[in-house]
Amino acid sequence: MMHITHKDFKIPALGYGTWQLREQDCLTGVQKALEIGYRHIDTAQIYENEEFVGDAIRNSGVERKEVFLTTKIWMSNVRDGALQKSLDGSLKKLKTDYVDLLLIHWPVKETPFAEQMEALQEVQKEGQAKLIGVSNFTVAQMTEVVETLGVDLATNQVEYHPFLSQSPVYDYMVDHGMFLTAYSPLARGKINDEKDLLSLAHKYGKTVGQIALRWLVQQEGVAAIPKAASEKHMRENFNIFDFTLDEMDMKIIHGLAREGGRLINPDWAPKWDASKAA
Ligand SMILES: NC(=O)c1ccc[n+]([C@@H]2O[C@H](COP(=O)([O-])OP(=O)(O)OC[C@H]3O[C@@H](n4cnc5c(N)ncnc54)[C@H](OP(=O)(O)O)[C@@H]3O)[C@@H](O)[C@H]2O)c1
Repeated sequence: MMHITHKDFKIPALGYGTWQLREQDCLTGVQKALEIGYRHIDTAQIYENEEFVGDAIRNSGVERKEVFLTTKIWMSNVRDGALQKSLDGSLKKLKTDYVDLLLIHWPVKETPFAEQMEALQEVQKEGQAKLIGVSNFTVAQMTEVVETLGVDLATNQVEYHPFLSQSPVYDYMVDHGMFLTAYSPLARGKINDEKDLLSLAHKYGKTVGQIALRWLVQQEGVAAIPKAASEKHMRENFNIFDFTLDEMDMKIIHGLAREGGRLINPDWAPKWDASKAA
């Protein structure tokens, strides 16, 4: 496993995503992931599976402190008071008294960021969240939070895979001591037939998914959180630490970013930063 060092924290660069894993599938998935060796689990209030993530961690026999656990505050819970109350609910479901990382899931314009951040900082001070961060924030929004409000954000969790460049967002984070958490790192399966990735897969004796994940974690300060329901995919995604992509091949993959590469773009999304081929 590779790790990202952030302050006193060592964050496993490869995590396990749980969106759309419900009930028994989530329980089995997270338990199997922990058995394979994953030590970084990503959930969210809106996934409605925190209870099963909590059960899986508890049943696994892996000590709580060995697991880097992230959850996210849903949009309807970002107000002062609601955030703290909803986190209490999440922790109860997760059967723990803290998460390692707590994120604001999407930027909500109707509630001032100052109010949201004060609430986040309060729960951090109380030890209910070791690190705090955001998800789906643009550079302008990160600038407001980090520079105007002076908040110490650990990460911005954003969509990132070979078909989507995140250069402005990534550059901002590197410059401000943050790490990037890449969601939908396999482009939700869309990369599987891409010819350059297929030829790199052939060259390195790996699969397309392994090439994409390796490309992500090989970048400074990038963590990836693929979701896999099947044990085969879970094992495959975990098996990316025995090879290195050379510089030329890293560049080839960077060059695959394209128009229409973004997959997650709901009505409430912000106006995304324009980046090459985005
Ligand atoms: N912050 C946000 O707004 C946000 C948004 C989206 C996602 N996320 C997080 O990011 C995680 C991952 O993103 P995602 O679930 O959208 O997409 P993803 O991880 O890019 O792709 C998941 C899909 O790829 C398949 N897959 C997994 N491993 C594979 C492999 N080795 N070969 C071929 N196919 C493979 C999975 O199939 P099987 O399941 O059948 O194995 C599933 O259909 C989520 O679970 C969630 O935790 C966060």
